[in-house]
Amino acid sequence: MGGAEGGNTGGVVATGGGLATGGVVATGGGPAAGGVIATGGAPATGGVVAAGGGPAAGGAAQATGGAGTGGSSTPLCDTSWDTVPSKQDGLAMTPPMGWNSWNVFHENINETQLREIADALVSSGMKDAGYVYLNMDDNWMAATRDDQGNLVHDSTRFPNGIRALADYVHERGLKLGIYGDRGTETCFNRGKNAGSGSYGNEERDAATFASWGIDYLKYDNCAIAPGRDNDVAMREDYERMASALQATGRDILFSICAWDYKDWMPATGHLWRTTLDIKDCWHESDGCIAGTWETGIVQIIDENNLSAVDGGPGHWNDPDMLEVGNGDLSADEYRGHFSLWAIMAAPLIAGNDVRSMSEETRDILINEEVIAVDQDPGGIQGTRVIKNGDLEVWMKPLCHHAGPEKAVALFNRGGTAAEIAVAFDAIGVTSKATVRDLWAHQDLGEFDGSYSSLVPARGVVVVKIIDTVD
Ligand code: GLA
Repeated sequence: MGGAEGGNTGGVVATGGGLATGGVVATGGGPAAGGVIATGGAPATGGVVAAGGGPAAGGAAQATGGAGTGGSSTPLCDTSWDTVPSKQDGLAMTPPMGWNSWNVFHENINETQLREIADALVSSGMKDAGYVYLNMDDNWMAATRDDQGNLVHDSTRFPNGIRALADYVHERGLKLGIYGDRGTETCFNRGKNAGSGSYGNEERDAATFASWGIDYLKYDNCAIAPGRDNDVAMREDYERMASALQATGRDILFSICAWDYKDWMPATGHLWRTTLDIKDCWHESDGCIAGTWETGIVQIIDENNLSAVDGGPGHWNDPDMLEVGNGDLSADEYRGHFSLWAIMAAPLIAGNDVRSMSEETRDILINEEVIAVDQDPGGIQGTRVIKNGDLEVWMKPLCHHAGPEKAVALFNRGGTAAEIAVAFDAIGVTSKATVRDLWAHQDLGEFDGSYSSLVPARGVVVVKIIDTVD
């Protein structure tokens, strides 16, 4: 990027409180994506998008960095669309990226293995690609609290304790995440470890986590205390832990794990799970779902799309950790999974054994062009804009670098390769645009009016479409 951004090319208006002039069409009661009209039956549930002309909502554009300063290398970025009440503490301004132990190791975690994971995150290039949080999930705790009532680690599996693990992780430029529960026991420990939940101990446990150097708390929703299995109490419990974390004075991301979106969550957590647990399974119709708590990847995509307007900088919908590389799906399916997470501005929390991953898995996880879509500082969660049976088009508006840019996923959920087309006027792009393939890493040239591609069965083509007409 050169100094051109300072000149506000491409319609992001940093002066004068630009108003939408670019074909913003409101559908379904909310401000909608610029020029995005749902065709083929899918409502455009997308958020507010400034397309070709400026912020859709009135008011001054908040250009984050580089606005009008000429010569800044920071891209102009309008976030004035984001009016969702949120924590506003400056954390998680792009979707968190990291790794979590649950999908691959479940309850079988230990210190040696997590240190090896830390090393592998560095040596594999994952850290450099942005995966900085190393999050241990359930079952790091001893069977009981100590005499003072503090949570303690399992001393067999974590002989040196959590503080030493945090030091090891921090020395490698990574951050350490931990797991807790708003009830009386964690999800795995239900019925066998009374007291492993934080209910009634929120301040004590937050202080413990901070003293260990914890940077991220995933806070689950099992073993709910008597009388508290209702929405009001759930909100109180999560808010109490959020306040307790804040009171520690340490920057700790707060990940709400309650398997559904509620409107108080953006103001309470930095991210919140929107669905039950992900499974390394495309769709339940494949027969790969074992229990009612498990959900297939394309089912998660549909569910996570429902609260798209509530995600944004500092507050993200979380469709759960990635299954890329866990072995039950094809590379095309994993590329589809990863791409849709990026289009939906989802937290990218890898869930595979990064110590032994294949080159193919690594190439998916560290595709910097697709990661850049996810991490776009505009923070808009992309949505489905066209649905025609199994063939879909998803669109995420990007920060305007050199002109209006959209990331578009041509997504084929079905079992047969198929041609998928996107008409530019369906995504708020004027007639001519250049197209770049973000998996092939290739510029495809200029297209007039539409772009189409053959998309593999259960796969995806992801392109960046840059409007060439101002
Ligand atoms: C719940 C969560 C999972 C995982 C397990 C651990 O099911 O949704 O992500 O943390 O608990 O027991």
